Amino acid sequence: METLSINGGRELSGELEIVTAKNSLLPILAGSIISDKEIIINKVAKFSDVLYMTKILESLGVKLQFNNDSLYINSKYADKFVVNDDFTKKVRSSIFMLGPLLSRFRKAKVAYPGGCNIGNRPINLHIKGLESLNVKIEEKHGYIICDGRNMKASEVHLDFPSVGATENIMMASVRLKGVTTIYNCAREPEIEDLQNFLNSIGCKVSGAGSSTITIEGVQTFKASTFTPINDRIVAGTYLIACAMCGGNIRLIGCEKKYNQALIGKLKQSGALINEKGNTTEIIVKNRLKSIPSIETQPYPGFPTDLQNQILALQTITKGTSIIVENLYESRFKICTELSRMGADINVKCRMAIINGVNKLYGAKVVASDLRGGAGLVLAGLVAEGYTTIEDIYHIDRGYLSIEEDFCKLNADIKRIKS
Ligand code: UD1
Repeated sequence: METLSINGGRELSGELEIVTAKNSLLPILAGSIISDKEIIINKVAKFSDVLYMTKILESLGVKLQFNNDSLYINSKYADKFVVNDDFTKKVRSSIFMLGPLLSRFRKAKVAYPGGCNIGNRPINLHIKGLESLNVKIEEKHGYIICDGRNMKASEVHLDFPSVGATENIMMASVRLKGVTTIYNCAREPEIEDLQNFLNSIGCKVSGAGSSTITIEGVQTFKASTFTPINDRIVAGTYLIACAMCGGNIRLIGCEKKYNQALIGKLKQSGALINEKGNTTEIIVKNRLKSIPSIETQPYPGFPTDLQNQILALQTITKGTSIIVENLYESRFKICTELSRMGADINVKCRMAIINGVNKLYGAKVVASDLRGGAGLVLAGLVAEGYTTIEDIYHIDRGYLSIEEDFCKLNADIKRIKS
């Protein structure tokens, strides 16, 4: 069992390079099976979820090879279309295989991913979208079984701008004769990144980043070398860490435009933020003010993936903050653990009311999900005394080596293996 041990209370300083985005890498890797031409993905951040996705591809017959952080992918001999529950239990994003497998083989069988620690995570929008492309879908023995023999380009309307459903439908449509249009799409930067990747292998996708995406089917593909965008959630987590601990850090590869919602809130609290090229600097000299109201929304609204971290910040700011979580029903599990560290939080359904306290105190706490775990790391960094965090495998799903990153930023944090 591994734990993180943090001796809190140090100001942050220094410079750090942000890694490529988990939420770009996962659909891009899934989409690599669409083409039979060679693909190289550069700067692959080896998050545990990303490594699971490479295992899924290997199980389908794709040849993969890492050369440092470049991943060589050859799907020419891929010959399987079944993703079993050994994988779907470990990485929910295995659901992203549905669209690419349908594109490549016109059939797909993927074990049902089920819920997760932040709540029930339905896939009805994925299913409905694929059905609009005339895929016949059966749910049997825990599998989603897709027959795409009669698939055709169509108009798809999403009832909610789901990131995964948008990406799955995009990838399912790229080989269909004619034009597919997806309405009410999610607008996350990672979707635009997926579009850029798909176009780099020869697809014809446009409109990503807006709420309407158009896909013109193609039949031939080309080799490609692609570098995904950087991880705005990792960058946002570190900006919030500095807002909590005080100090001055510079994040290379942190583009302000992808984190506008967060940066607006941090400025409102009193942090100073500068951007030069692709580097964002944050300077925090005094205790910050609470943000009265934060609501998570699909992009470009405030991201649910930074909600636990900004909540951790509100526990030590001056004043009262109300946070509403609109995307996931169980994304306040961190609150029990933060209360053990001295935070004053009341949770009612999807709302948390946080009264800022002067200080948090180190304690033994448990990470129950990825972003909640990150929020606990931030709380540990600012708390007086030692904090031990258990179940940190959740954190490793989305942070490459969070302790090494924070050590570079002057924190006193280490991983303990027992
Ligand atoms: C992606 C991100 C995840 C982030 C989330 C919301 C990846 C790999 N993961 O997840 O980090 O937290 O976007 O920004 O990119 N929903 C349905 N039916 C569906 C699909 C979704 O009701 O078929 C609901 C979900 O329960 C949730 C909301 O829609 O309440 C958003 O989900 P979605 O945008 O699909 O998130 P993911 O793609 O799973």
